[in-house]
Amino acid sequence: MGITVAVTGPTGEIGISAVTALENDPAVEQIWGMARRPFDPADHGWKKATYIEGDILDREAVEKLVEKADVVVHLAFIVMGSRAESERINLAGTRNVFEATVAAERPSRLVYTSSVAAYGYHSDNPVPLTEDVPTRGSKEHYYSAQKAACEAALVEATEGSDLEVYVLRPCIVAGPKAPALADAMPWAQLPGPVREATKLVPALKPLIPDPGIPLQLVHHDDVALAIAMCATTTAPAGAYNIAGTGEISLSDVVTAFGARPVRVPAVTAKIASAVLAYAPFVPSALEWLHVGRTSVVMDTTRAETVLGWHPAHTAAETLAELADSRYSTAVTRL
Ligand SMILES: NC(=O)c1ccc[n+]([C@@H]2O[C@H](COP(=O)([O-])OP(=O)(O)OC[C@H]3O[C@@H](n4cnc5c(N)ncnc54)[C@H](OP(=O)(O)O)[C@@H]3O)[C@@H](O)[C@H]2O)c1
Repeated sequence: MGITVAVTGPTGEIGISAVTALENDPAVEQIWGMARRPFDPADHGWKKATYIEGDILDREAVEKLVEKADVVVHLAFIVMGSRAESERINLAGTRNVFEATVAAERPSRLVYTSSVAAYGYHSDNPVPLTEDVPTRGSKEHYYSAQKAACEAALVEATEGSDLEVYVLRPCIVAGPKAPALADAMPWAQLPGPVREATKLVPALKPLIPDPGIPLQLVHHDDVALAIAMCATTTAPAGAYNIAGTGEISLSDVVTAFGARPVRVPAVTAKIASAVLAYAPFVPSALEWLHVGRTSVVMDTTRAETVLGWHPAHTAAETLAELADSRYSTAVTRL
């Protein structure tokens, strides 16, 4: 008899690959997935997974989901959204999942996908970041603040329980099935013919400033593997940083997606971030600019040596796969 895994957010960029990895794991017998929109597991060839429409804000729905499972994987989250809406769903919904899992009899393990953003963008943090660095978050970036708040809620909700708690902190996830990074580029919204024209006339390509902060990327299949491993491993519970091998630059990213990078001093990003932090009424989408003000490169030694996780893709390969799938643009700097 294998284990039963409940997954919140199985239809997202990470969820699809995570459920696929769980499907391929012989130790997993059954999977229950829950998110809000209609979805058919058969479209992905899944055999072990059953999908339930439900909202993590609905405590009863969450209780019904987690009570069926030996392991609960919590992925449901609003990543790109307004500060107000994401806060409403992410904090209350995540707390529901944590508390319901602790209260249910059957689950013995909880796997929560946090983020590098939980550490916050602090110039006094070490580079690279290790798992023992406190997850302080940065209040001026809603996503970072909420990820830190969720980690604090996790500690509070699970304190004194027997639950084995695995926390994954991935960097930006990308690849052909995780295109959010490409979609987030402002010029991705340009009409197709305009984008085509920029290929023929490079001078038309948007100029994007690069303050020189190194970036990490991880492939969706590698994150999915880490999640599936956490569901079944005998490695110790705790936090694990997750990132593909190597670093890339913002210049690599903008070049891959058809814009022109221009190097600017690192202090430019710090100034822009400081101005935004004190400006009133900043649109939530602009809060992501804080990410560029300091390095948040992580050390993944613990994931590799303790969990035994090894990414199959480098950051550069992940970027190239995404770029090929989205724009058929050759990435030459890899
Ligand atoms: N993508 C990244 O680069 C990245 C990096 C580090 C960490 N993470 C973390 O990994 C987790 C998964 O991210 P992702 O990229 O897969 O996000 P995503 O693509 O936006 O998917 C979010 C998932 O959550 C579900 N969901 C949202 N609100 C819900 C609600 N109220 N009730 C039930 N389900 C809900 C969505 O389905 P419905 O909308 O249909 O409900 C979807 O299945 C998140 O915690 C995220 O912060 C992501």
